[in-house]
Amino acid sequence: MVKFLGAGAGYAEYVSAPESDLAKKPSNISFQEAAAATMAAQTAYVSLVRYGEIKKGDKVVITGASGGVGHYAVQIAKHLGAYVIGIASEENREFVLGLGADEFIDYKTTNFEDLVTDADLVHDAVWRQDESHIGRGIQALKSGGTLLSLMVHPTEEFIEQAKKKKNVIVRRMNVTDTTDHQGDVEAIRSLLESGAIKSHISQTFSLEETYNGTPTGRNPCY
Ligand SMILES: NC(=O)c1ccc[n+]([C@@H]2O[C@H](COP(=O)([O-])OP(=O)(O)OC[C@H]3O[C@@H](n4cnc5c(N)ncnc54)[C@H](OP(=O)(O)O)[C@@H]3O)[C@@H](O)[C@H]2O)c1
Repeated sequence: MVKFLGAGAGYAEYVSAPESDLAKKPSNISFQEAAAATMAAQTAYVSLVRYGEIKKGDKVVITGASGGVGHYAVQIAKHLGAYVIGIASEENREFVLGLGADEFIDYKTTNFEDLVTDADLVHDAVWRQDESHIGRGIQALKSGGTLLSLMVHPTEEFIEQAKKKKNVIVRRMNVTDTTDHQGDVEAIRSLLESGAIKSHISQTFSLEETYNGTPTGRNPCY
């Protein structure tokens, strides 16, 4: 995640980087496990710790719990003493419970907001064109709870309405908007080194396979 957002050239053989983007790879994990954690684990950490101010004993709902970001979010929340409800599809039930989740909900058969209405935090990584999914997350919150949206930018009006209706905080989080980037990078290093979090790798790609077909080889998004 060198110089992210921007042309960080993370796939280059040599690259210059600000010191604050770097941490020493723990010797007890592979390069693949370290690389997997850069964006995904930092997103989970910034969301739960910086934006969500997660505390021991919090009830935390994590959508996308079997995914890149979500599987770190489950482990980080659990490590920090939260009660974790992971949401993914049935085929990933054992995986999510194995990460430490206390409960599992299959989003294909069950609406989580029918079962949970007293969460302190909802970490929502599900993409929708509108605020419909974060609206469901709000239903799962207790009064005073916080919804962290990784995907959807809620409008100011939506945020105000949520505050009025149920006294909840709705925040669109971004991994780059953090009060202490170097601290985040170091925190991930330390969590990996201690074994508090582990990267689960479903697939690896050769460098050639990362080429995206544009003439410069750069991701056209940035
Ligand atoms: N705001 C930021 O700074 C930031 C940073 C990084 C990523 N993101 C965004 O976060 C999202 C997640 O990224 P990722 O890399 O973790 O994706 P991913 O690895 O593809 O994981 C997606 C997860 O979503 C689950 N899912 C799909 N539909 C769902 C639903 N209706 N309810 C609950 N869970 C559902 C999937 O579960 P199953 O596979 O079990 O069905 C899977 O666990 C991406 O869209 C990414 O763009 C945002």
